[in-house]
Amino acid sequence: ALETTFAPTLERWYEHHKRDLPWRHTRDPYCIWLSEIILQQTRVAQGKPYYERFINAYPTVADMARAEERDLLRLWQGLGYYSRARNLHQTARYVTHELSGKFPDNFRDLLKMKGIGVYTAAAIASFAFGERVPVVDGNVYRVLARVFGIDEDITTTTAKKTFARLADQLIQAAGDPATFNQAIMEFGAIQCTPLSPDCLLCPLQQQCNAYLTGRQQRLPVKARK
Ligand code: ADE
Ligand code: SF4
Repeated sequence: ALETTFAPTLERWYEHHKRDLPWRHTRDPYCIWLSEIILQQTRVAQGKPYYERFINAYPTVADMARAEERDLLRLWQGLGYYSRARNLHQTARYVTHELSGKFPDNFRDLLKMKGIGVYTAAAIASFAFGERVPVVDGNVYRVLARVFGIDEDITTTTAKKTFARLADQLIQAAGDPATFNQAIMEFGAIQCTPLSPDCLLCPLQQQCNAYLTGRQQRLPVKARK
């Protein structure tokens, strides 16, 4: 059944198609946290040089904690949403001074940190600590809506629950939770893209509800605001 083949299929696809990105070579929660905060409202191409500058300037969470906020904000210039940079700094100080420099090592405790929501907590928990918790972002909504033919409006709370439950079910069949989470996001970013999904070369083509019903352009459903 698709529920059990989906994860292994994506993991195999990922090993052949993944982009070489700097935060994919580390399990350091600090580096992963930093990359995910930068990538929250920023494209990979734009975020990557920022990530590299931040890691150079502040190789560890203690280095970031020691910095002046204005220096962080200067490095952040051009990324927008400056509250992200302020939260970054406050969380770096909190981890350094209250947690002896150690990031929380599980989803539940990560969620308590300033600026770390469900998405970022899941990303850190799975990428750094191998916790079997799914990341659910816009890419994931699109991939799941299409493959499983889910036509619920993704802006609603009920739909969000539907997608979160399905993602949780799917990650249970994954070999490695970190690889699966990277894979589904990467799949949405470069294969199952919003406007022109590459269905002809897609490993899920013959199981994909959207492909089989010609609904790639109609899924996911997003109510106009
Ligand atoms: N966008 C958000 N997180 C990402 C990641 N880890 N890799 C690529 N794009 C992302
Ligand atoms: Fe996405 Fe097309 Fe593949 Fe379906 S067949 S998962 S719509 S790329």
